Amino acid sequence: MRGLYIHIPFCKHICSYCDFPKRIAKNNEQIETYIDYLLKELDSYKNYFNDIKTVYIGGGTPNMLSDELLEKLLSYIANNISNPIEYTIECNPELLTEKQISLFLKYKINRVSLGVESFNNEDLKKLNRYHSKEDAIKAIYLLKEKGISNINIDLIFAHPFDNIEKVRENLEIFKSLDVKHLSYYSMILEDKTVFKHLYNQNKLTLIDEDISAQMYEEIIDTLISFGYHHYETSNFARYGFESQHNLLYWQEEEYIGVGAGAAGFINGTRYTNSPILNKYYKGCKEVEVLTIEDIKKEYMMLGFRKIDGISLSDYKARFNSEVFYDFSLNKLLTEDLIEISNGMLKLTTKGIMLANEVFMEFI
Ligand SMILES: C[S@@+](CC[C@H](N)C(=O)[O-])C[C@H]1O[C@@H](n2cnc3c(N)ncnc32)[C@H](O)[C@@H]1O
Ligand code: SF4
Repeated sequence: MRGLYIHIPFCKHICSYCDFPKRIAKNNEQIETYIDYLLKELDSYKNYFNDIKTVYIGGGTPNMLSDELLEKLLSYIANNISNPIEYTIECNPELLTEKQISLFLKYKINRVSLGVESFNNEDLKKLNRYHSKEDAIKAIYLLKEKGISNINIDLIFAHPFDNIEKVRENLEIFKSLDVKHLSYYSMILEDKTVFKHLYNQNKLTLIDEDISAQMYEEIIDTLISFGYHHYETSNFARYGFESQHNLLYWQEEEYIGVGAGAAGFINGTRYTNSPILNKYYKGCKEVEVLTIEDIKKEYMMLGFRKIDGISLSDYKARFNSEVFYDFSLNKLLTEDLIEISNGMLKLTTKGIMLANEVFMEFI
């Protein structure tokens, strides 16, 4: 077992683009009850705790928790899991306080991921974010000042109000902040979001695909020129600061997921907890036993998300088989979407831009 993901499904406000399992809490008792069930679920995985290398507390908004509940959760983890190499908590900049950071330090959290989304105040409002560019910058400085240097920020490009100049401005501000890691996601129009609702009523225009591709190309080139390692489709890091927890997903390693809506992958079985609180409390989950073919396909899809690609020798060691025996890759190779270089099978520059076409081959 390698990773532990803990989901906190509460937010103060709901952003217009987001379909993560989350809700606005009715009151603190509801969150208290949730934490009790979460700790019970964690107890049920105790046998696996010896082998946990990374812990990731995500959401929703984990720093929605009161200081008392945050401490209850963090002390449980500290008492049960020894020295994970990477221990991340996702935070909303609007809610980050000095007290929270002191708890992170007390319980040895060594990485913070901030949902910044944009440094443009007008766009933040339109995305229904309640913090400003200045709040986000303040949160980054506060984390650094208190001694947390391994920081990720999330940004979103190609949202309905974006343009290439705004992408450039975001990148320049990002550069000036000297942050170790950036997840720069292309906005996906998800079902059950305010944006999808507006789109269905013809009240929202999406960014043209060619412009979105131009933005993505500019993001990659600029961040590489700033000295960042483009190591996954949407992820960039200073060398040595690549997210160990996320790499574990992309290498199809095992992980436990706890909390409403969280997923895990253990012994070839994937499970997804119900996102509905009452059902989650009763232990409802979907369980899927993957066949070896399913696992191989997933390994390929996830592997292609890594810019370095798939190691042919790792594939052989893991599956006792050859990639070229298991998959017919000629079409992707002749269309110049994938290539082999130094024992790695990876997306070409064209393939990175058209990654979805490659993934479709493995669905
Ligand atoms: C759980 S949130 C981050 C933490 C915290 N909830 C916050 O928003 O500040 C995870 C990230 O997923 C990304 N995200 C959510 N919905 C998305 C969408 N529809 N398309 C692209 N990225 C999305 C956002 O960048 C967001 O910061
Ligand atoms: S982006 Fe973050 S704060 Fe916004 S709704 Fe999603 S989980 Fe909540």
